Amino acid sequence: MTPSNRIQRVSDTQGRAAWLVSGHEWVRELLADPRLSRSHPNPEHPVRLTQPGLFGGPIPDPEGELADLQRMRKLLTPSLSARRMESLRPRVETIVDALLDELGRSGSPADFHTIVAFPLPALVICELLGVPAEDRADFCRWQIEAKQVSRPAVARGGLQSLWRYLGTLIERKRWVGSDDVISDLLDAAKRDPKLTDDGIAHLAAGLLFAGHAPVVAIIDRGMLLLLTHSEQREALRRDPALAAGAVEEIFRFASPIERLRTARRGGLTRYASVDIEVEGATIRAGDTVMFAVQEANEDESVFSDPKRFDITRERIPHLSLSHGAHFCLGAHLARVKLQYLFVRSFERFPRLRLAVPLEEIQPVRDAVAGAVSRLPVIW
Ligand code: HEM
Repeated sequence: MTPSNRIQRVSDTQGRAAWLVSGHEWVRELLADPRLSRSHPNPEHPVRLTQPGLFGGPIPDPEGELADLQRMRKLLTPSLSARRMESLRPRVETIVDALLDELGRSGSPADFHTIVAFPLPALVICELLGVPAEDRADFCRWQIEAKQVSRPAVARGGLQSLWRYLGTLIERKRWVGSDDVISDLLDAAKRDPKLTDDGIAHLAAGLLFAGHAPVVAIIDRGMLLLLTHSEQREALRRDPALAAGAVEEIFRFASPIERLRTARRGGLTRYASVDIEVEGATIRAGDTVMFAVQEANEDESVFSDPKRFDITRERIPHLSLSHGAHFCLGAHLARVKLQYLFVRSFERFPRLRLAVPLEEIQPVRDAVAGAVSRLPVIW
């Protein structure tokens, strides 16, 4: 049988053979397939494509990964639930308003990326973890340093400072708990002796890393989309109730600067843990499987006129937050802050627009799709 064109043999970014899954139905189906895992079944395999859940080091063992993942999700899900995020909403709104004040104070033109998009997710994670206001500047600086992979000494220093700080914070919260994720985890540790302070610090650091770069990229992407689609922006300004749809459409839609370049294929990646027959193709145990998420988000059989950015669509079942066992745990939190941010930005700055032609906005290479290095705006 010939493999369907939804499951194709391709090369991955390093030129190695891989499978590419496309089409909304197949991407959705195979993302939820437990035979595709983020760990490689062969212990000798040198490459890891993604982190196994949030519990640290590589495990060449799909079953071990699954157990880790289930444990991590069970611990974090109550702290990140929709109900919990609603109670966080007023604090998130205060953070957004303060950053928009800062944008206003800096004067037009200003860099929306540096003043708003970049600090917002880290400050919200500080709120989520219960990092006190006086420690936030240091905490945010260390997390920036920790990600400087091209400067290993700086990255190591940042990571060590973060780690030391998390240890102190956990110790403090053991005595004076409050309404935050670290206090929740300390409570969970009373019932689960396997959850050590190191385990709690791992989860907290994992949230910081998982919940920063993609949110910055989505804020930049959303702002660029709204600034370049005036009728959609005006619709949102007139009717803030469109915020939920606007955010889902921003998740679905590719960044306008990526549209100027070759489309990226392949987003999320997995390894087959056993041989899998699918659509006439035989995916062998150990094969790499990549998912064309952006293409799935533009599948005509699911989205009418998919290349049109339209915040009033009725249903937007995009796959940008993944699907199945790894579905993004921060989805509610991301929605709460993005909905408020986009509505407030245009309420506060009704004449907000790009300060330079779109072609001058540079994407950050090798970063999450949508990330830019600066986003100059005027109002
Ligand atoms: C708004 C932007 C965000 C995007 C586009 C995004 C996207 C994703 C995607 C695609 C995955 C699944 C990866 C996979 O299937 O291999 C994921 C997982 C995850 N995300 Fe998000 N995310 C966002 C925001 C957040 C935030 C704000 C947090 C937390 C504060 C967060 C925490 C997590 C965690 C903990 C996982 C791991 C789930 C697992 O492995 O089971 N994310 N995210």
